[in-house]
Amino acid sequence: MSDRSSGNAESDKRYQLIDRSMKRFDYQKDALLEVLNTTQEAFGYLSEELLGYVSDQLNVPLSQVYGVATFYHMFTFDPLGDHNCIICTGTACHVKGSNLIVNALSEAFNIDEGQTTPDGVFSLKTARCLGSCGLAPVVVIDGDVTGKQTPETTLQRVREIIALSAETTQAEHTRSEVEA
Ligand code: FES
Repeated sequence: MSDRSSGNAESDKRYQLIDRSMKRFDYQKDALLEVLNTTQEAFGYLSEELLGYVSDQLNVPLSQVYGVATFYHMFTFDPLGDHNCIICTGTACHVKGSNLIVNALSEAFNIDEGQTTPDGVFSLKTARCLGSCGLAPVVVIDGDVTGKQTPETTLQRVREIIALSAETTQAEHTRSEVEA
């Protein structure tokens, strides 16, 4: 196993989910499919960088990783909206009401699971199990893994994040107009 290939990997908790999955299989190459599954569940899609990370960590040629990722229809390479929420609907999270969180967000943003709002601002996805069942129900909001969520806490958080980024964009727009 080689060093981490991504600078983001140190601080991004989603990489810890991938690492945990690889560790569970003792970094066996056979675990590739399972690890790619976890990767997609944590990030919502498979980017070039993520495929490179998996290839590096499992010591499997990148071509093989691409081969497996493109063979199975369950994998997607489409990036998510500007903001995204991935809700775990695995057994432990389901028991703790994760479906209620999915429904609340689906209703609030008028999209189904797996969709992005027409303006590209928000994507809603679900995952099978993010490997942190003790924290159920688990959601990943813009890459931040948080547990013990409710429909209210998740919705509030998502709304805050979207509002904050809209304010930032507006402020940058105003500043560039002033400077022009
Ligand atoms: S079932 Fe949700 S983290 Fe495992």
